[in-house]
Amino acid sequence: MAVVEEERRKGIGAVLVDAVAEEAAKCFSALALNVHIRNPAAHLYTRTGFRVAGAGRGWFGVAMSRPLSDRRSLTEATSGED
Ligand SMILES: CC(C)(COP(=O)(O)OP(=O)(O)OC[C@H]1O[C@@H](n2cnc3c(N)ncnc32)[C@H](O)[C@@H]1OP(=O)(O)O)[C@@H](O)C(=O)NCCC(=O)NCCS
Repeated sequence: MAVVEEERRKGIGAVLVDAVAEEAAKCFSALALNVHIRNPAAHLYTRTGFRVAGAGRGWFGVAMSRPLSDRRSLTEATSGED
């Protein structure tokens, strides 16, 4: 996933992650991804519900997963509503 440099840090990445999760939840029970251990994007993934699942690809890869059983959107999940 990538957002053009001049549009970063405006929440677009989080909206994209949440949109992918909502679509994937129609068919799958979890999402998984691979991120470089030093990529600040890992913070975004943690904030949007991903947790470290184990070693990822290569020396510096981290596998992260996010269950999709909770279909609440990121906005709902972070606003404290059920
Ligand atoms: C990762 C990426 C898609 C995030 O898109 P975005 O629109 O900036 O995402 P958001 O605005 O929703 O969230 C930004 C969060 O990403 C993290 N982040 C991403 N790049 C960062 C940087 N250079 N410095 C610090 N935090 C960064 C932070 O957690 C940040 O949250 P914060 O603003 O609350 O601190 C974008 O930074 C990007 O395109 N990066 C290059 C490609 C890449 O590394 N993709 C991930 C491959 S696994």
